[in-house]
Amino acid sequence: MLSFILNRETVNTGAAPGTLLLDFIRETMKLPGTKEACREGECGSCTVLIGKPGDDGRVRYKACASCILPIGEAAGGHVVTVEGVNREELNLVQQLIIEENASQCGFCTPGIVLSLTGFALSAEAYSYAAAADALDGNICRCTGYAAIRRAAARLAETLEENIRDREDRIPGLVEQGVLPDYFLGIPDRLRKLEGSPAGSKRGKEVVVAGGTDLFVQKPEELRESPLFFLSGRRDLDYVREEDGSLRVGSAVTLEDFRLHPLVNQHLPAMREDVLLHSSTILRNKATLAGNIVNASPIGDITIMLLALEAVLELEGEDGAQRRVALAEFYRGYKDLDLNPGEIIREIVIPVPAPGAFYNFEKVSNRKILDIAAVNSAILLEADGEKISRLLLAAGGVAPVPLLIKGLDKFAGKKISPETFAELAEEAMAAVAPIDDVRGSAEYKRLLLGRLTEAHYQKFSTRREN
Ligand SMILES: Cc1cc2nc3c(=O)[nH]c(=O)nc-3n(C[C@H](O)[C@H](O)[C@H](O)COP(=O)(O)OP(=O)(O)OC[C@H]3O[C@@H](n4cnc5c(N)ncnc54)[C@H](O)[C@@H]3O)c2cc1C
Ligand code: FES
Ligand code: FES
Repeated sequence: MLSFILNRETVNTGAAPGTLLLDFIRETMKLPGTKEACREGECGSCTVLIGKPGDDGRVRYKACASCILPIGEAAGGHVVTVEGVNREELNLVQQLIIEENASQCGFCTPGIVLSLTGFALSAEAYSYAAAADALDGNICRCTGYAAIRRAAARLAETLEENIRDREDRIPGLVEQGVLPDYFLGIPDRLRKLEGSPAGSKRGKEVVVAGGTDLFVQKPEELRESPLFFLSGRRDLDYVREEDGSLRVGSAVTLEDFRLHPLVNQHLPAMREDVLLHSSTILRNKATLAGNIVNASPIGDITIMLLALEAVLELEGEDGAQRRVALAEFYRGYKDLDLNPGEIIREIVIPVPAPGAFYNFEKVSNRKILDIAAVNSAILLEADGEKISRLLLAAGGVAPVPLLIKGLDKFAGKKISPETFAELAEEAMAAVAPIDDVRGSAEYKRLLLGRLTEAHYQKFSTRREN
């Protein structure tokens, strides 16, 4: 039995944990406000909020795509659909959307209302930029984005002026008319809920981290499968610094990683780079470990982590732990050094040496929200004008995400356009791309060469500044 609160109502259901939340909301609960379109996490029309209690008892809400979210993820939490933010009068977000003419056919509007409410509940800053970012997963086919952004800008302005307590925002958001007042009683109600998040042991269960890959690939099959929800492993939800490395638990989402103060301190580029992975409604669920085990040859996070020489801490069913370098983890296409029942417990990322240059580049049809044709990351340590250490990772150019070998010979060479031209040649010779829908083998090989040169351009620009 799964228990959670859906809007105002407590739900106890015997539905299979792999049932998609969108289907449960629309078909079982007959709440039609949450819209169904792509069913692939691409359009945002199915956006809902999922609130989970933190260690301090406060409920943290995140906007998520319900079309790829299994209902087991909702256990012990508060699911909010557009019906759940309605008040007697229009709420502030709805009011601003009307005043700015930000809705025409209205199909995307519930998702937009929820994404903006998610922004109000969890944004680091009430800025226009953050409000626009919160909408990066919501596609509107008819209104035009200028009107939607005007509504977002006015919301950000109002919240910046009026929400004083950013730690405990819900009372302020109720007062401002963003949320109905039943939100105030949710933490208490969640404490009293029977039943904990589903799945507490592994056996033959499928490991679900964010589910953003799994539930696009095989939702039917997973509906009836035994599932192990990594989000139930609260002990794996941490980022900490130890012995010169960042240690990232495998339950950490991409968005929490991107915004974590330790990540911002030691790997500042991640704040922008991780945005290239996907939209907010996906980053709020997807994990680093899911990207690694997914083993896509163009997995963005994997390519970043390869250049950073990440190491995986694995945990077997019996609790036994072992370590494997990420670069050694891939034995062939989707063939991993991961035993049955084993999970990635932690990702260990060595903190780059002071002054080291790290950079990530990605080429895709759209700048964001698109899978790469080719991507690449570099870590370069310099001794004055010379290279002392160089790591180059490349995606989309081999059956596995690749850390290019044999680059030690670049140590001692001057950091110059000529050296990078040589590096580009070396990289292009080291890879074996194939023709596919993202481009011909030749095109991808050339792209890798250009991306290697782009690393140098970024290096020079940063040095000049
Ligand atoms: C619309 C959309 C756009 C996307 N765009 C991109 C993109 O641009 N770049 C990109 O790289 N990816 C992209 N993805 C793919 C996907 O979101 C990522 O690979 C994501 O990081 C997967 O993480 P997850 O936590 O959701 O994995 P899940 O779907 O939960 O799991 C993926 C696989 O990893 C296994 N697994 C997860 N965690 C563990 C663990 N700790 N130990 C052992 N096994 C584990 C699961 O069993 C499963 O086999 C996109 C997906 C969607 C839906
Ligand atoms: S229906 Fe398009 S993101 Fe869910
Ligand atoms: S208002 Fe029609 S899709 Fe956005």
